[in-house]
Amino acid sequence: MEKGLKVLVIGSGGREDALVTLISRSPLVSQVYCAPGNDGIGQRPKTCCLPKLKADDPWGLRDFAKSNKIDLTVVGPEAPLAKGIVDGFEKIGLKIVGPTQAAAQIEASKVFAKEFMERHKIPTADFMKFDDPEKAQKYAIANLPCVVKAYGLTGGKGVIPCKTKEEVAIAIQRIMIDKEFEESGNWVVIEEFLVGEEATFMVLTDGWEAIPLLPTQDHKPVYDNNEGPNTGGMGAYAPAPVITPELAKVIMETIVEPTLDGMRAEKTLYKGILYVGLMIVLTPDGPKPIVLEFNVRFGDPELQPLVPLLQSDIVPILMGIADGRLPEGEIDWADGAAICVVMASGGYPGEYEKNKVIKGLDKVARMEGVEVFHAGTKFEDDLWKTASGRVLGVTVKEANIPAAIDRAYQKVIPQITWEKVHYRRDIGKKALTRHGIQTRMVF
Ligand code: AMP
Ligand code: GLY
Repeated sequence: MEKGLKVLVIGSGGREDALVTLISRSPLVSQVYCAPGNDGIGQRPKTCCLPKLKADDPWGLRDFAKSNKIDLTVVGPEAPLAKGIVDGFEKIGLKIVGPTQAAAQIEASKVFAKEFMERHKIPTADFMKFDDPEKAQKYAIANLPCVVKAYGLTGGKGVIPCKTKEEVAIAIQRIMIDKEFEESGNWVVIEEFLVGEEATFMVLTDGWEAIPLLPTQDHKPVYDNNEGPNTGGMGAYAPAPVITPELAKVIMETIVEPTLDGMRAEKTLYKGILYVGLMIVLTPDGPKPIVLEFNVRFGDPELQPLVPLLQSDIVPILMGIADGRLPEGEIDWADGAAICVVMASGGYPGEYEKNKVIKGLDKVARMEGVEVFHAGTKFEDDLWKTASGRVLGVTVKEANIPAAIDRAYQKVIPQITWEKVHYRRDIGKKALTRHGIQTRMVF
């Protein structure tokens, strides 16, 4: 492959910092742009941020890529994919990693995703869809406990688990009548409430073949022991032992392959990153993976712990996806495990203050096996300051998960402080109950 590549990454959070870190590592790449990026991302080698370009402006981004002869564009968040950025880039011959607008419906429309899974016998929770609030409420009450989901993109907020009649009434009111999530509430999907352990399984795919990444686990609720409201994700770790190599094979055979085959059969070839959000349900026959949701991009923060573990150059793989053919061979992973603890502004995911001075980043900068990803920071008057709810993703790699947890919480995180900083103290704890189970995948 040619050297001197110019790569554009779209987005501005911790996931995009992780992507920029991986891409800038590649000897094939001479320049990385991140639109809009953030000040922390701008510190990465070979990297320049473009704060005036917005992630949800596909045409502005396309003009930039065209006039700057960008060799490859990688999309971080789902919104530009749902708006058809890939169709627009490909139409004028620009290379881009991600699904077309039609294929991105697998995340953008829960109704599409559920009906697709039903058509292709992909295991998912039983469901019904409704555009009539009264009928939705009646069905939900008759099927308690259940989960009421707005059909469109809601940044994860339009999914409401209900155990009582009152909770159903509030969920339907918020989604369908008050239209808290606008047209995403025109329909709801009402799902059976699944009990099990959640996990994330991501693959890189050209639409035919898929390369699985190490399984990970996110921590969505804001407080320890999964209490409090849901966030974008408060931390992640990899490899997640709940997904054993045997289970990974089952996921490939019963979920990933039928999904790619089904998308091709429906003339919407799916290429890019396929994120499978799973509930691992214990059945009399053993653990069974059931799909909670598909996403059309890397998980945030699930990508972050994969960065110190991934040894292969990601750029030929991403280029292969954009060209429609994955390169031969497997991904190399380092031995060991990594955890990423998200350090957030006090008050997040509710209201929070910004512009707090962050101290201690210099102390961890040279620590072996430590990467601090910037989700929302700015550099002003020679100081790092907080600029959003999720601020940093402190990522530590060690020989195994217990060692990574110990080092992160004892040695690394205490060095970094700001007024009202908040983070979970139990990232990775669930893995400890399974420590010792082999998690390497062999395909
Ligand atoms: P989703 O955006 O559909 O993945 O849902 C967000 C979160 O809601 C998931 O990560 C789960 O914690 C929870 N959830 C979604 N669907 C279900 C379900 N059918 N049963 C139990 N919990 C669910
Ligand atoms: N961490 C969950 C997501 O990226 O959707």
